[in-house]
Amino acid sequence: MTKIKIVDRLASIKSYSGVKPLEAIAEELQIPTSNIIKLDGNENPYEPLPEVLNALSSLKRINFYPDPLCSILIQSIAIKENLIANNIIVGSGSDELIELLIKAYANPYDSILSVSPTFGMISFLSQVYGIKHVTVPMQLVKDESFARYILDEAKFLDAAKHAKIVFIARPNNPDGTVLSEKFVESLVSLPILLIVDEAYIEFSNYQSLANWIPQYDNIVVLRTFSKAYGLGGLRVGYGIIPNDIRKVLVSIKQPYNVNIAGQKAAIAALSSHLVEKRIIEIKKTREWFINQLKLIQNQNKAFWIHRSEACYILLTFETPEVAKSLYEYLYSKGILVRYYSSQDMVNNLRISIGLQENMEKVIDKIKLFFKGGN
Ligand SMILES: Cc1ncc(COP(=O)(O)O)c(C=O)c1O
Repeated sequence: MTKIKIVDRLASIKSYSGVKPLEAIAEELQIPTSNIIKLDGNENPYEPLPEVLNALSSLKRINFYPDPLCSILIQSIAIKENLIANNIIVGSGSDELIELLIKAYANPYDSILSVSPTFGMISFLSQVYGIKHVTVPMQLVKDESFARYILDEAKFLDAAKHAKIVFIARPNNPDGTVLSEKFVESLVSLPILLIVDEAYIEFSNYQSLANWIPQYDNIVVLRTFSKAYGLGGLRVGYGIIPNDIRKVLVSIKQPYNVNIAGQKAAIAALSSHLVEKRIIEIKKTREWFINQLKLIQNQNKAFWIHRSEACYILLTFETPEVAKSLYEYLYSKGILVRYYSSQDMVNNLRISIGLQENMEKVIDKIKLFFKGGN
């Protein structure tokens, strides 16, 4: 037998393991999927939008390939966001757009800069394309109840001078903080390609930077239908992008990168009035959840809460053991939260904001855990 060797740089790649499918967890825990509270993927907790279900049930011509340019969807985004079509590109999730940007603009001798911790896709794709990923670690500061990651902005700016691509998530995943516009302005004035990932901007009290395009020709703002619009399973994201960069990405992308269901569903989602209402509910539940966590914390000083501008809350624990045992306890009860095995994050759990009634169950279980109950 001939063993075919994988290319050297990928031989020891740390793969990006996405969230486990519900069905697999239900089988493992021997409970129905409907009893699982899924808070590990920053997904939208609501049922699909009625407009989306309607559009999907009337899908036609799926025997033909989809529109390679997503023209109608782009028109709909342009109207909604007050942009022009030449400044919009659609991808199979914003993940695909990050990948296209790296593929198109990073040579093997270039580097990509981000803060750490941040969205894992950056280090994963850097490995895949053999590009150096440089990080500036943020510093964790804590007070009585809250923890916060703080970036040494001068250090980051300095590092950015040596990078080809700079990635920031605004709000950042996993902690939900937002870098100031003033700081982003200092980054965009450098000769770099700046990717501003706004996957969670709808949940924040900050403005999108979408209107910086086309004023600047070196910034791409990424948005997604996976979070606020609840279409994670259909994989649709978009970029607000200078026309020259858009043309480059269109020239190298897979022709049929966004399928018909995704395109139709996204168009329908843009027309729904429920989206805004659900965002308001999620933000309300987020504040309620933080207050409840604070009450638990008054009894048990075992963790710190990160104030978040996104649809998740990061908790930093005193020890990795507590983080892990709370994760395992919640898992055994069918509550899935994000656990981190990497050394710099082992003290943390990230909990997505779900439906209010489910977050109440989560709070009850966390209380029980700290009381030593079952
Ligand atoms: C910061 C950030 N950007 C992008 C994504 C992925 O978005 P999409 O589903 O559009 O690929 C995620 C997913 O969790 C994320 O946390």
